[in-house]
Amino acid sequence: MRKRYKVAIVGATGLVGRTALKVLEEKAFPNIDYTLFCSSKSAGTKLSFLGQTYSTVELKENSFDAGYDFAIFSAGGETSKKFAPIAVSKGCIVIDNSNAFRMNSDVPLVVPEVNPEKIWENKGIISNPNCSTIQAVVPLKPLDDNYKIKRIVYSTYQAVSGAGRPGIEDLENGIKGEEPQKFPYPIFNNCLPHIDVFMEDGYTKEEHKMINETRKILGKPNLPITATTVRVPVINCHSESINVEFEKDFDLYDVRVLLQNYKGILVVDDVENNKYPIATKASGNNEVFVGRIRRDNSVKYGLNMWVVADNLRKGAATNAIQIMEKLILNQRM
Ligand SMILES: NC(=O)c1ccc[n+]([C@@H]2O[C@H](COP(=O)([O-])OP(=O)(O)OC[C@H]3O[C@@H](n4cnc5c(N)ncnc54)[C@H](OP(=O)(O)O)[C@@H]3O)[C@@H](O)[C@H]2O)c1
Repeated sequence: MRKRYKVAIVGATGLVGRTALKVLEEKAFPNIDYTLFCSSKSAGTKLSFLGQTYSTVELKENSFDAGYDFAIFSAGGETSKKFAPIAVSKGCIVIDNSNAFRMNSDVPLVVPEVNPEKIWENKGIISNPNCSTIQAVVPLKPLDDNYKIKRIVYSTYQAVSGAGRPGIEDLENGIKGEEPQKFPYPIFNNCLPHIDVFMEDGYTKEEHKMINETRKILGKPNLPITATTVRVPVINCHSESINVEFEKDFDLYDVRVLLQNYKGILVVDDVENNKYPIATKASGNNEVFVGRIRRDNSVKYGLNMWVVADNLRKGAATNAIQIMEKLILNQRM
């Protein structure tokens, strides 16, 4: 008989948690019993999931005594730091959406299209990268394999949903003229070059995350990368301009074919007909959309791309669930 799995969704009432529930419904995995956790604040919230009404449960120190196989954490770094080690000590594998463990050398940082082999190095915790990093490394991986990346310049245009429910509330309330609660300035009518906190070198922590996580995932610890990350008044889906320089020359047609055929990528690049990736079309999809693929003639072997993805799906929930799926399939083989 097939094993039944117990899975904890931590932060089920949040934007990523609710998106995870949608993705899990679409996947319809058999033989899994789910428990939906949140904080004391919204414990008892009724969520409809898999045709039933689930009541959310407050996450407590003894929650994992019940013996979970997997937990998807989407409840902020502090919750992960406190509860993920407890879950692991009870035999649960944690897939963590927060920033808590991403750069720990003994924690794999995984994008299944890029470095799935790292999953098997886990010691109980697998980190999901930052949303802006995930969508960038998916198209960068096949390009690196073929043309060897020399340098990357990231410029991002990130949706307010990337800041959770308070981010969306700031945009919606800002339209009505209310003061911001989450961002330092009104996000309505503004682009804020400020995501997460400022660091000593003048970069933001979000920019550091993109740089350091890209290096870790691509296995290139010294790769020259720079980034400017910007919050824009878009509800959902991050857009990114990625400028990349290669060691080797490339043919633009080959690059398109390479990206078109790579798992998890949808190329939308027909400028004669005004076709390129946009947030409202990418929203609700699991793929990374790539377009505006063109040569950067200011350097020897340079390329520009415009990359858009649903930060709540591929940038968080979908990526985590893809990892869980691989773990389950491996146990079944
Ligand atoms: N939004 C994105 O695009 C995105 C992308 C990648 C990664 N992430 C990461 O995913 C996590 C969640 O982000 P989000 O955007 O979904 O935030 P959110 O909408 O603000 O939701 C936060 C969730 O965490 C729960 N929570 C907070 N403290 C908790 C505690 N002590 N115990 C249990 N649950 C607790 C909240 O429960 P209550 O309802 O009870 O408050 C809620 O379910 C964050 O770590 C974030 O960095 C987000």
